[in-house]
Amino acid sequence: MELHTVILAAGQGTRMRSRLPKVLHSLAGRPMLEHVIDTAQALGSVRTHVVYGHRGEQVRDRLSRPQVNWVEQTEQLGTGHAVLQALPDIPDSALVLVLYGDVPLVRPETLRPLLIPASAGLAILTTTLDDPAGYGRIVRDAGGSVRHIVEQKDASAEELRIREINTGLLAAPVTRLRGWLERCSNNNAQGEYYLTDVVAMAVSDGLSVTAVTAADPLEVSGINNRAQLAGLERAWQRRQAESLMAAGVTLMDPARLDIRGELDCATDVLIDVNCVFEGRVELGEGVSIGPNCVIRDCRIGAGSTVEANSVLEQAVVAENCTVGPFARLRPGADLATGAKVGNFVEVKKAHIGPGSKINHLSYIGDAEVGSGVNIGAGTITCNYDGVSKHRTVIEDGAFIGSDTQLVAPVTVGRNTVVGAGTTMTRDSEPDSLVVSRAPQKNIPGWTKRRR
Ligand code: UD1
Ligand code: CA
Repeated sequence: MELHTVILAAGQGTRMRSRLPKVLHSLAGRPMLEHVIDTAQALGSVRTHVVYGHRGEQVRDRLSRPQVNWVEQTEQLGTGHAVLQALPDIPDSALVLVLYGDVPLVRPETLRPLLIPASAGLAILTTTLDDPAGYGRIVRDAGGSVRHIVEQKDASAEELRIREINTGLLAAPVTRLRGWLERCSNNNAQGEYYLTDVVAMAVSDGLSVTAVTAADPLEVSGINNRAQLAGLERAWQRRQAESLMAAGVTLMDPARLDIRGELDCATDVLIDVNCVFEGRVELGEGVSIGPNCVIRDCRIGAGSTVEANSVLEQAVVAENCTVGPFARLRPGADLATGAKVGNFVEVKKAHIGPGSKINHLSYIGDAEVGSGVNIGAGTITCNYDGVSKHRTVIEDGAFIGSDTQLVAPVTVGRNTVVGAGTTMTRDSEPDSLVVSRAPQKNIPGWTKRRR
């Protein structure tokens, strides 16, 4: 049966106290709802129907994708009503999986057992909590078969003692869901159309209800307020830290690491405290990252070191390079083997050739730097004339003295030496000396005469 997923995301999320719709708040660097859409995709969902309500346009704009069908629920009349809104867009042959936009960490592996064949009827995901307060409880008969789900507000004192709870996530053939939800009433403590009522209906139709248990309650935790969001974020980060350590990464403190995306590490990588990794980052064997670094969408080759307080974005660093402390690699920075970028150096859209060094206080942008080049402190590529950007080429073996401005477009020829303090505006031939300085005047006794 082809799989269609319905994601419930119409709740107002008032307890977030935010202008931003709840499902757009970020977890592990991405909106919660995006995690859920990706999970549906990973399960092979042919179409994903997102039921939205409150400030829904914002959600649509942020997460529009071809596979997603947006279904508006104008009034939030309950979870059963919400699912019903999506059913007209789903073909009769489909199996429907219901997910929640505010339950972002559930994994495809956990959901897969719910996707059972049509004959089985209904599968629900449950878990067991020490404190089940607030959740719907799973009521089973003496034989252990699921009979129905009772909501907290409708439960008897005895039912409230049940610790097996409803996560809300379930799967059933669309034809069955349609029949049940059309019969659903709102005659209950909250005056809502409860999706959970389908369980008793399936039982009365003589179908077995399969309860799949999520072993890890964290995975099925919902987010209602910012404290829960922060709690889930920490738990998630802790888990990522543990899997990195298990894969052979040294973390100076697993509690002080944030991965907001995907971090792929070879063996013997060392990561010091307070580093943030965003997007997709790859670290080669033996890479060492100093404290307080922020690294987004980068590839760092084996044996390279990034020292404390460096910020790298969309940069490629080859093997055995040294970056930082206090370096900034901006998009398009591309360091070849053994290159060094030191403190207070900013590099943007520039290839730095093998073994070249830019050790202090420089800006290198829109540049092609050859191999074995030495760039002195305070060198600036003047790449922008106020209208357009221009390129600087520094050929192999060149030596750039300190406090130099390279006014682009300009080429520093092979093995050229540029004297300190030069403002270079014309290309140089290979093996030249380039100097542009006002001649120095020394006037002996000048200060004494002034007095
Ligand atoms: C629901 C379940 C409860 C379960 C709990 C797990 C019902 C009746 N109860 O309760 O058994 O233990 O989730 O967290 O289903 N939503 C809509 N439209 C609506 C109402 C809700 O889209 O009209 C969405 C919400 O945005 C949310 C999800 O459905 O993502 C669940 O709604 P919520 O109000 O949080 O349900 P609970 O009362 O917590
Ligand atoms: Ca809830």
